[in-house]
Amino acid sequence: MIAMESGEQFLKLLKSRLSGDRKELFEFVCKELMNVNGNYNWVGIYVVKGEKLVLDTFAGEKTEHNVISIGDGLCSKAIVTNAIVNEPDVTSNSDYLACFRSTRSELVVPIRDGQLPIGELDLDSNTASAFNKEDEVFLADVGELISGRVREIYSKE
Ligand code: SME
Repeated sequence: MIAMESGEQFLKLLKSRLSGDRKELFEFVCKELMNVNGNYNWVGIYVVKGEKLVLDTFAGEKTEHNVISIGDGLCSKAIVTNAIVNEPDVTSNSDYLACFRSTRSELVVPIRDGQLPIGELDLDSNTASAFNKEDEVFLADVGELISGRVREIYSKE
């Protein structure tokens, strides 16, 4: 569940920053999303670079998964299927690539250029079943808003 007021406020602020410095924008997205919802305990933006997903910006703990081969983990699944992955219980999913011991659920939202997935928003929560439809719609909106800036660093090779 997201607090709708803060979600709307976030989108408004995001819109006003879209044309600013890209790194600052992505840092804003990751950090502020964690304030929108207390269940968002780690937020990252991965970008497709050839056959890999490269972590561009994140807020929360450091992860060793800075580069993920497409094919591995829930992060890849969102790219390969070009669809949102909402896993309520990471411990029950054999595709899951463990990052943090505290993570219980994960939401991965593709960021697209037209129909092509070029990156993703990855959210980890320390609470099981933390993400619902409302979160999916909200984060898809965020992804759509920043897709033009993700395109700047996306690469086919
Ligand atoms: N859990 C992800 C890996 C990235 S970390 O959550 C930051 C996965 O299964 O692909």
